[in-house]
Amino acid sequence: GTICAAQRTGQERLVRTSLVIANWKLNGDAELLKSFAEHFHQSEIQQHIGVAICPPAVYLKTADVLLNAIGVKVGGQNCSEFEQGAYTGEISAQMLADSGCRYVLIGHSERRALFAESDAVMAGKVQQAQAAGLTPVLCIGETLEQREAGELEQVIEQQLSSACKEVDFENLVIAYEPVWAIGTGKTATPAQAQDVHRLIRNWVATKAPEAAQKIQILYGGSVKADNATELFSQADIDGGLIGGASLDTEQFAAICQAANVKKDS
Ligand code: PGA
Repeated sequence: GTICAAQRTGQERLVRTSLVIANWKLNGDAELLKSFAEHFHQSEIQQHIGVAICPPAVYLKTADVLLNAIGVKVGGQNCSEFEQGAYTGEISAQMLADSGCRYVLIGHSERRALFAESDAVMAGKVQQAQAAGLTPVLCIGETLEQREAGELEQVIEQQLSSACKEVDFENLVIAYEPVWAIGTGKTATPAQAQDVHRLIRNWVATKAPEAAQKIQILYGGSVKADNATELFSQADIDGGLIGGASLDTEQFAAICQAANVKKDS
């Protein structure tokens, strides 16, 4: 009766493993990968939390050899919404998987703003990624104008619903990245970020109640070693997507250490 139900609830309350992903953008090289490999080979933080590096695609094979062997995962920064064919310059999700990737970033705000990727395109990319066995990291977030106009919730829900068509929520990571915080040095306050993370988890719960408790929701936007602890201690923040600070091995490693926190969610 009551006791059994309580025990079951206890077991079902999973503490999510933290995940920290480096997004190198159009930066980095094989030397930087070597420096990461040496650092993580020694620190072994990746035994306690998930750590992944998304270098430019031409370095994926090198990353595969250096990092997968020591438990650091590898991801692509983008993939095609097409499976194959006459699409010059594109890289398919399957090709990323063949190159040793576990993750792929989808819909980063730079892709949306600078390369005109629409929400409709995101849905195709998420589907391609999952079909290839990758875990898509769907990036969403509002601009400052949208936040100030009171459109935050609407924008987040719109981005989620248009990108998550026929998606398996059991194999998805969501990254909340307020556009005004990316590369600007302005971080969302831990409370501001937590509010949106909770909104996202609640939205997922309306589609997939069980997956909602397990899904990792990462914060991104000017995360540094000195603000990571406070952000990662929030109940619904399960790690980070790190741009600028991921180009410095020591700083990125310190951010990973900050994500190694135990929370009862
Ligand atoms: P930033 O970038 O850490 O340099 O703000 C984050 C991102 O774009 O993923």
